[in-house]
Amino acid sequence: MSEQQVTPYNNQESKKGQVTTMFDKIAPYYDFLNRLLSAGIDTIWRKKAIAKIDSDVSEVLDIATGTADLAFEIVKQHPKTKVTGVDVSNEMLEVGRKKVIKRNKSESITLDLGDSENLQYDTNHFDAITAAFGVRNFENLEKGLAEMYRVLKPGGQMVILEFSRPKFFPFKQLYNTYFKYVLPVIGKITSKDPRAYQYLYESVQKFPDYENFDMILKKIGLKNTSWDSLSLGICTIYTGRK
Ligand SMILES: C[S@@+](CC[C@H](N)C(=O)[O-])C[C@H]1O[C@@H](n2cnc3c(N)ncnc32)[C@H](O)[C@@H]1O
Repeated sequence: MSEQQVTPYNNQESKKGQVTTMFDKIAPYYDFLNRLLSAGIDTIWRKKAIAKIDSDVSEVLDIATGTADLAFEIVKQHPKTKVTGVDVSNEMLEVGRKKVIKRNKSESITLDLGDSENLQYDTNHFDAITAAFGVRNFENLEKGLAEMYRVLKPGGQMVILEFSRPKFFPFKQLYNTYFKYVLPVIGKITSKDPRAYQYLYESVQKFPDYENFDMILKKIGLKNTSWDSLSLGICTIYTGRK
């Protein structure tokens, strides 16, 4: 584990192990906290990200799918599309699997346990690859992104939604106060994990955003990259093609 790496529990375990433990722990509270802490805006961010995908995609891979909210948004906007969601946390997937059954989407959504840094899918397979709030948690960012690129068809799209840091006064200062001090307290009380929502703040501070993340996407081989920031820069949609 590199010294610079931001991890949930700051212990000797790998970042991947710590991230898996953390999401396994908070899985039962994850959806509720997403809605509460973002005042429901996270659902609009996912909608906007999926609106970037071509209309004729037939197979999409949703990386770090968690409880499958992005997968549901894909089949909502593209009812004929088959979505495979993959995640390292079995507890997050279990919440997702229950939702898939309850919403009668077993024909459209499959959820697999797996690691984005070592994907179990064929090269050049998927029409599009998506990831919402997942890539920041990778142990090795470029390895994870390179694997996503590998399984994408030539000409296929990658759409990544990730937190970024607002730049402008006074929103930047107001948001930072909320993100650094208020959100971790609500997260701690509700998720019963004292570190999870502090890790969220810390990991966003260290994560490359805007042109810096765009540069990494170009480096792994994506063409026609672009980014579009949402809610005054709280998060950003990054896109590119293989
Ligand atoms: C913040 S959640 C996002 C879940 C979902 N995409 C959403 O929009 O709500 C991040 C997810 O990334 C998963 N994750 C982290 N590292 C991963 C990896 N290397 N491969 C697959 N999933 C990973 C975690 O287990 C967790 O479920």
